[in-house]
Amino acid sequence: MNEKKIYHLSYVSTGCDSLKYEDIKSILESSNKNNAEIEITGILVYCNKHFFQIIEGDKADVLELFEKIAIDRRHDNLIKIQEAERDVRQFNNWSMAFKSYNKELSSLDNFNLEQFYSYINEQIKKSENDVSLKVLADFFDLNG
Ligand SMILES: Cc1cc2nc3c(=O)[nH]c(=O)nc-3n(C[C@H](O)[C@H](O)[C@H](O)COP(=O)(O)O)c2cc1C
Repeated sequence: MNEKKIYHLSYVSTGCDSLKYEDIKSILESSNKNNAEIEITGILVYCNKHFFQIIEGDKADVLELFEKIAIDRRHDNLIKIQEAERDVRQFNNWSMAFKSYNKELSSLDNFNLEQFYSYINEQIKKSENDVSLKVLADFFDLNG
C-alpha cells in the first residue's frame, strides 16, 4: 500500500510592531481549532519579535494554510526555510505546539523549556541534517 506522505513546511517571520499578547493568544486559538479539523500539526516558536513555524500535514492543506498565514498582517518579512515530503510527522501530538521566549507569553506555552529541549533533540537525532530542526536548535541555543 502506498502510504500518503506528510508535507512539511517551515518559515521565519517578524511580528508586527503592535503585536500584543491577545494577538498571539488569538493566533493559537485559530491554530488549535482549524488545524485539528484538517489534521495539521506543528510548532510555533516566538522569540524577540520573530516567529518560527513548522506546519505539517496533507500537501494541499499545508499550502492552503501557508497562503492564509502569509497574508496575515500580524507579521511580515516571511522567509520560507524548508518544504519537504516526509514519512512521519515531527509534532504529531500537537495541533500547534507553542514555545515562547518572552516571559509575558509563557502562560500560552504548551512545552516547558526542558521538555522542549529534549523533544527537539530527540527529533534531531531521528532526522539528521534537517534544516527546520537546525533552526529550532539555533533558537534554543541562542535563547535557552
Ligand atoms: C505566525 C502566525 C502563525 C499562524 N499559524 C496558524 C496556523 O497554524 N493555523 C491557522 O489556522 N491559522 C494560523 N494563523 C492565523 C491565520 O493567519 C488566520 O488568521 C487564521 O487561520 C484565520 O482563521 P479563523 O478565521 O478561524 O480565526 C497564524 C498566523 C500567524 C501570524
